Order: sequence, then C-alpha cells, then structure tokens
Amino acid sequence: MSRRLFVAVEPSDACRELLTGTQATLADRFPSLRVRWQPTDNLHLTLAFLGNVADARVAETSEQVERMAAIHQRFSLTTTRLGAFPSPLRPSVLWLGAKAEPPDALAHLQRDVADAFRYLRDDRKPFRPHLTLGRVKGLGSTPRDEFAELLARLPTDRVSWTVHGLVLFESRLTPDGAVHTPVRVGTLAQ
Ligand code: 2AM
Repeated sequence: MSRRLFVAVEPSDACRELLTGTQATLADRFPSLRVRWQPTDNLHLTLAFLGNVADARVAETSEQVERMAAIHQRFSLTTTRLGAFPSPLRPSVLWLGAKAEPPDALAHLQRDVADAFRYLRDDRKPFRPHLTLGRVKGLGSTPRDEFAELLARLPTDRVSWTVHGLVLFESRLTPDGAVHTPVRVGTLAQ
C-alpha cells in the first residue's frame, strides 16, 4: 500500500481569512464561473508533490522532512497578487501569490526539498509559489477577457506571517475532493 504525499507550508489564520474572502469575492463577481473551491482547511503552499509513496518509506520520508526543516531558518511570507495557471485567459487553477523575506528563503527551501525527494518524483517544473484558491471547471457565460482583466486588477489585502514549519501532508482523494492530513511537521530553525 502507499500514501499520496506532498510537502507544503501552511498559511496563517489571517491569510486563510484573506483566501476565503477572495474566493467569495470571485464567486460573487462571476456567478457563472464553475469552480471547485479549495476548502479552508486544505489551503496550503506546495513545495513538492511526492506522489504515491510506499507505506514502508513513509517513516524515512517524514524524517527527511524533519531534517530538511532543521537546516532551514524561519522566514516570513507576504501575499501578493491573484493569478491563474496556465494563464488568466485560460484559467484552470486560481491562486494567490506569496513572496518571502528574506527574498530567497522560500525558493531555497523549495529547491532543497525538491532535490531531497527527486528520487521519488522528478518534477522539474519551475517553482511558482502560490496558494491555490480553486480549480476552474468552466467559465460559463463569463467572458475570458473580462475575467483575466479583473483577476489582474482585483485588489487583495497584503497579509504577512512567519513560517515555522514544513509539513508533510497526505492527500486522500475522495468523491467530495481531496482531504489533506498532516503526517509530520518539521520545525524550521530560529
Ligand atoms: P497546488 O494546488 O498548490 O498547486 C496535493 O495534491 C497538492 O500537490 C495539490 O494541491 C497541488 O498543489 C500539488 N501538486 C503539484 N503537482 C501535482 C500533481 N502532479 N498532482 C497532484 N497534485 C500536485
């Protein structure tokens, strides 16, 4: 048996509030948009998706996450702008961006985590730090250009928080969507 795992950092409560408020604003502005919104408890910033990891390897994976956390320092994150993958005109994933202080802290942590777990899954996509708000199922009658324009213009509050932990999550796929459960939290160095 195996478990579907990923490594992420979590938003603060204030950031979760901002994210759920932003989901509500987008749903309100675009009533015909069909989106599977990320439930509040599932909001996170993914550093590395590990895929299915054999049960026998979960303990060593957890220990690796702890070790990785211990050799990286805490840093702060601040939310930035709204965006969409693959592009605002063809939105599939809606997200809110985040940037770190010190500026390289998040990118370094992500690079080291991705390198450490490359033997599990070699995912060389460039890292674009984001908190996924929802997955678009269809635009309905929403004009693409109007949606893309609003996404670029919609003001969002800036929320900052300190990241204390690196979290190994299990993601279980259910008919109602993914359920994420922390498997291990590694504490970042002071
Ligand atoms: P994202 O939504 O923040 O991009 C758990 O499945 C998480 O891992 C997802 O929320 C997604 O984060 C991230 N992820 C990255 N690559 C993935 C992949 N190939 N399949 C599923 N999830 C992936």
